[in-house]
This record gives sequence, C-alpha cells and structure tokens, in this order.
Amino acid sequence: MRIVIFGANGQTGLLATRRALDAGHTAVAVTRRPGDFPFTDPALIVAGADVRDADAITDIVGGADAVVSTLGVPFTREPVDTYSKGTANIVGAMQSSGVTRLVVVSSTGAHPAKGRTGAPFALRVFEPVITKTIGKTVYDDIRRMESVVRGSGLDWTIVRPSGLFDLPQVTEYVAGEVDPVGAFTSRGDLADYLVALAIRQGREDTVTISTTADNPTMWQMIRREAFKSA
Ligand SMILES: NC(=O)c1ccc[n+]([C@@H]2O[C@H](COP(=O)([O-])OP(=O)(O)OC[C@H]3O[C@@H](n4cnc5c(N)ncnc54)[C@H](OP(=O)(O)O)[C@@H]3O)[C@@H](O)[C@H]2O)c1
Repeated sequence: MRIVIFGANGQTGLLATRRALDAGHTAVAVTRRPGDFPFTDPALIVAGADVRDADAITDIVGGADAVVSTLGVPFTREPVDTYSKGTANIVGAMQSSGVTRLVVVSSTGAHPAKGRTGAPFALRVFEPVITKTIGKTVYDDIRRMESVVRGSGLDWTIVRPSGLFDLPQVTEYVAGEVDPVGAFTSRGDLADYLVALAIRQGREDTVTISTTADNPTMWQMIRREAFKSA
C-alpha cells in the first residue's frame, strides 16, 4: 500500500513512517523540512509541503491508499487553526483525488472522558487546568479538526491518545472504542496502531489508545508539560 503521512518528521510521524516501511508499504512522508528528514529507504518518498497550502498537497495525496495525520502544534495562547485548516485541506485533496481512507491523531485531552478509568488523581486535577489555559487554543482546534473529519464523508478513524511518551519497543497496548486506561500512550504504540488502522478499510469510528506498561510518573509528565510547549 501507499500510505501518505502528514507530520511525518515529528516524533510520532517518524515512528509511523518507519513502521509503514517495515510492514512493506510505500511511505510518503510529508514535512515542511524535507531536507531534515533523518533517514532514507527505497520505499520512502519525502515530500515537502505546508499542510496549510491546499495546492501543495493535492498531488502528494493523489494515488494514496491511505492517509495518516500526526500533525501537531505546540501549546500557545495565540489562536491555532493548523489542525482544522490543514485537515480540511487533506480532506479536500483526498476527495478530489478519490482517496478514501483517513486516520487522524486527536487527543483524549480534547474530550476528557467522564468515568475515565485508572487516570491518576494528579491528571484529573491537572488536565482540566491545561485544557482551559495553555492548551486551550490547541484543544479548541483539535475539536474543530474532529468535526471536519466527521463531516468529510471519507472512511475515517479519529485516534485519541493520552499523554505521549517514548518507550524503546511496542507494547501490548489497549486500543479501540473503549475508555482510555490510565493517562499515557507511547508514541511507538500509537505509530503501530496508526499503520494498522491505515490498512483497515471500511469503518468510521473514534478510538482511544492507552499504554499500560512502563508509564512515566505523573510528576515527570507535569514537569514536561509545564516547562516546554508541546
Ligand atoms: N504531546 C502529548 O502529550 C499529546 C497527547 C495527545 C495527543 N497529542 C497529539 O499527538 C500528535 C503527535 O504528537 P507528536 O508529539 O508526535 O508531534 P510533534 O513531534 O510535535 O510533530 C508534529 C509535526 O506536525 C508537523 N506540522 C505542524 N504544522 C505543520 C504544517 N503547517 N504543515 C506541515 N506539517 C506541519 C510538523 O512537521 P514539520 O515541522 O516537519 O513540517 C511536526 O513535526 C499531535 O497531533 C498532538 O496534538 C499529543
């Protein structure tokens, strides 16, 4: 399959691109910085484009079997529209070229689940503060992005991970149309799930993914979020 990955030079995007290649697919990695892409592969095409530029992405999307978006924007107090505008452009490019399968990364933070199981107390205190303050403009736009995807008429899946962290290997993660378990998702697990979803056709749904092994402590995560914009 030919899988186009937006945000491919980001932390999850790189892992998803590697995963797609290792699974025998052709990966089209889309980034604004194609010269910085860190690896090559005979089945890898690195495409330079800003997702906000609709014309620039039309040719890139054409001929794909599936499109995956791991687009991300750092927290900022400024208005954010990259998720919604970028995804609207991706949807438009897919519609005009007859590509139907779309998998996008959202966030549990944009839709804190009532009755969420296993979330640490500190997260239940901290998450509403983040989502209403430094993360507000990002989460507002993630919700707009989800609306764009739901209204697209495509064969879509919205994936809501929790706090992202890194592990050296893929774990036995919990994923699907279930409440998130705990508060974290490893980027490796997320990348694995995105590629698995990309090759699965024919269902519209919103899913979560949780990593239950080797989670960071809540305070490691809070320190990270408090001292960087991500
Ligand atoms: N951090 C968390 O705890 C957390 C929790 C839940 C969900 N998420 C979501 O998970 C996703 C992946 O997170 P991550 O940390 O792996 O992402 P990341 O490392 O921040 O990468 C995001 C990528 O998006 C690309 N991008 C941004 N604006 C773009 C534009 N205008 N045109 C083209 N590409 C653009 C950037 O690529 P280039 O600069 O190469 O163009 C960047 O590498 C994001 O959607 C994030 O919101 C994060």
